[in-house]
Amino acid sequence: MTTPTLRTDVSSLSPEGAGLARGGPSPRPMPGLFISFEGIDGAGKSTHIAALAEAFRGQGRAVTLSREPGGTVLAEKLRVLILNDPMDALTEALLIFAARRDHLTTVISPALARGDVVLCDRFTDATFAYQGSGRGFDLDVLSQLEQWAQDAQGLGQGLVRELGAKSGPLPIVQPDLTVWFDLPAEEAAKRLAGARVPDKFESQPVEFFRRVARGYADRMASDPGRFARIDSSPPRDVVWASVSQVFAEKGWLP
Ligand code: TYD
Repeated sequence: MTTPTLRTDVSSLSPEGAGLARGGPSPRPMPGLFISFEGIDGAGKSTHIAALAEAFRGQGRAVTLSREPGGTVLAEKLRVLILNDPMDALTEALLIFAARRDHLTTVISPALARGDVVLCDRFTDATFAYQGSGRGFDLDVLSQLEQWAQDAQGLGQGLVRELGAKSGPLPIVQPDLTVWFDLPAEEAAKRLAGARVPDKFESQPVEFFRRVARGYADRMASDPGRFARIDSSPPRDVVWASVSQVFAEKGWLP
């Protein structure tokens, strides 16, 4: 059975429905947008995320820029452990989802409820790609953790009722759009070589990143409407043109 997903619905619900305290009658906020960015290390997400933030601000939108693992004081502490300390695969997955839950409850949901554009450098697809495909951790366990950590009900009591989900798996929060910067693993390794001291994941062999890339392809195949795959092989300005086109086609940017 397919799990219903909650995308910008957090912000489009009434404050009561979303379980968010707000004073007095106020104009309905613009719907929030939740956009995640994915790709193997070296695929070159960062400059495009920064440029998109500028473009949205230029349109008068409030932007929340964040990243995973991280994005909150607690989650950034977990990030240091996750990226540097050896640990068994389940421990790693639990810490990643713990960080994600804190990020969702304290940063992402409130931002969407305000009508912000949330640009998040990595989200759950990274866990399926890195921990699942890369490390070979059980995808069913990851799906269960995804259900728990991204459970929309826990983000607001009225949410399930408003979505009309009366039976089956609870709705979960997912990005409205996931931009996947796709680059062959060999090319990414060349770009990363000597760039900085690699962390636990960056120091993995090329074969690991081939598996990670396949993991992203699998996630896209399971939810194609949510993904935009960007070929990251060409020069940066060409990649930016592809990114801009995706946002223009959505009607989110000119
Ligand atoms: P990254 O997002 O590339 O940040 P930076 O640009 O500072 O290196 O690095 C985060 C690393 O964490 C990256 O190697 C992928 C890894 N990661 C996972 O293994 N699982 C996850 O769920 C997430 C969000 C990240």
